[in-house]
Amino acid sequence: MKNHEKLEKNVGLLALFMVLAVSIGGLVQIVPLFFQDIVNEPVEGLKPYTALQLEGRDIYIREGCVGCHSQMIRPFRAETERYGHYSVAGESVYDHPFLWGSKRTGPDLARVGGRYSDDWHRAHLFNPRNVVPESKMPSYPWLVENKMSGKNTVAKMQALSWLGVPYTEEDIQGAVTAVKDKTEMDALVAYLQVLGTSIKNKR
Ligand code: HEC
Repeated sequence: MKNHEKLEKNVGLLALFMVLAVSIGGLVQIVPLFFQDIVNEPVEGLKPYTALQLEGRDIYIREGCVGCHSQMIRPFRAETERYGHYSVAGESVYDHPFLWGSKRTGPDLARVGGRYSDDWHRAHLFNPRNVVPESKMPSYPWLVENKMSGKNTVAKMQALSWLGVPYTEEDIQGAVTAVKDKTEMDALVAYLQVLGTSIKNKR
């Protein structure tokens, strides 16, 4: 009782013990996650992004798509009916950083892969009003014009492989050829078409 009174009357000491208590609480919850297979193990059939898909992902990040689109289907009926199987941690173990997002001005894109044709995506990204008249999504016409050089692709893949993404030497060697002279539109569409496809149980 005496000791606790001391703690309550001394702001510095109280703050110190509060930080200590909160840290222990946090560590107990967070640290075990790093060692659990369910969050670290890739789901069956998960493949690392190809060089082109990886560049597409970087364009997705650059253009701020994540500001309007989440990639995280929650396990609620309203979401699984609309988007397909809820997202599981093992689907994004090769994503550095992950793009789960938290803002849904547009629909969730976690399982958009295969839902539309490549042509649909091209027309939509060029000007969304071409295919969805009431759309509020911005147009991205420059993606068709911008050609890629692939000059950083190898370095990106090496960095990811250092983080544990299982790229083979062959993947890395072939990266420049796979990307060079493709347009940014090609890359972004390739990325969108692979989203969520490692889990087959869709819709
Ligand atoms: C300002 C918010 C906003 C931004 C930024 C945005 N979108 Fe959208 N997006 C929307 C809205 C709203 C819709 C729904 C209407 C439509 O289909 O166009 C949509 C729809 C989509 C769809 C169709 C999804 C479906 O299931 O029907 C795709 C694919 C898509 N966006 C991709 C992208 C990509 C890729 C980017 C970045 C290059 C992007 N969006 C940027 C708002 C946005």
